[in-house]
Amino acid sequence: MKKILVTGGTGYIGSHTVVELQAAGYDVIIIDNLSNSNESVVDGIERISGIRPLFVRLDCNDTDGLRSLFTAHPGICGIIHFAASKAVGESVRLPLMYYRNNIVTLLNLLELMQEFGVEGIVFSSSCTVYGQPDLLPVTEDAPVKPAMSPYGNTKQISEEIIRDAIHAGLPFRAVILRYFNPIGAHPSAEIGELPNGVPQNLVPFITQTAAGIRPELQVFGSDYDTPDGSCIRDYINVVDLSKAHVTAMNRMLENKSDQPMETFNLGTGRGLTVLELINAFEQSTGVKVPYRIVGRREGDIEKVWANPEHANKVLGWTAQTSVEDTLISAWKWQQKLGRQQ
Ligand code: WQD
Repeated sequence: MKKILVTGGTGYIGSHTVVELQAAGYDVIIIDNLSNSNESVVDGIERISGIRPLFVRLDCNDTDGLRSLFTAHPGICGIIHFAASKAVGESVRLPLMYYRNNIVTLLNLLELMQEFGVEGIVFSSSCTVYGQPDLLPVTEDAPVKPAMSPYGNTKQISEEIIRDAIHAGLPFRAVILRYFNPIGAHPSAEIGELPNGVPQNLVPFITQTAAGIRPELQVFGSDYDTPDGSCIRDYINVVDLSKAHVTAMNRMLENKSDQPMETFNLGTGRGLTVLELINAFEQSTGVKVPYRIVGRREGDIEKVWANPEHANKVLGWTAQTSVEDTLISAWKWQQKLGRQQ
């Protein structure tokens, strides 16, 4: 079995990707510092797959710890690097923490990949690198614009670091995956999104409001140039997104590309406004979401959705799950969390 290291593997997208990697026959090692997740996620993964992945609590800033891990587990052939801080607003308040946590950790991994002969890295990037695209839907060759937050800048810088490392001849391959807006939970409701404290993202705030944990949802802005004035995003099912990582890892390890580095948009190709998403949740679940329209949130872009054709054609991957079924999975997960709290 090919051995894959998943950094941030107890996180939201990381945990769902571990499940898909196991289903594809990979032997998975998870490292995570548990700063924004919980070790109980490993139990959830095991309940789904029947296989308990090795979990090592480790921070990617700990180079000695990383080196010990690679030494103890020879033969790691690929890395999927999720471990990073990812809250836009927090990054504006704590830029130095974001640059250290998101950039230095990548540098540590790339140097150890060279030292231990790891064949490739699948890197978790984001559509935030596009800023507000001039043309929609956005394609991978769209110009990368000045980031609107330190978080977005760390993703841009990370992509450039990987590109320059490969250009300099470091002996590994890379696939950059630019996520749009991941939402939903595994249909088993054994794993899902576990936001720390007050949710920053829309869907966990919707489900917590629907569950009565939050009194109401605030809709940030209704004066944008969109059909109903609220922002447009491309909401993609987290399991569909996770499957793309396996496809990317397979392609990279089987050396199917003549390019040492490839970049793919992972989206549905369909944009929805905030108000349309709220309505879709209410229609799908039958649960009302009390909301109030307030002012815009700093750093928000107006509208973005993917042109996913490159991933569809080259990766052979297409998002399959409807937004309605995805929202139902998010609600099912929230209800289970509610019973546990
Ligand atoms: C979506 C829309 C908000 C909360 C961020 C990161 C991105 C990725 C996904 C990591 C926006 C509106 C939200 C609320 C609202 N993360 N909203 N009320 O900002 O598009 O993307 O998360 O990779 O990199 O930038 O996602 O879910 O925060 O917001 O009205 O309580 O919902 O204004 O229009 P975003 P989001």
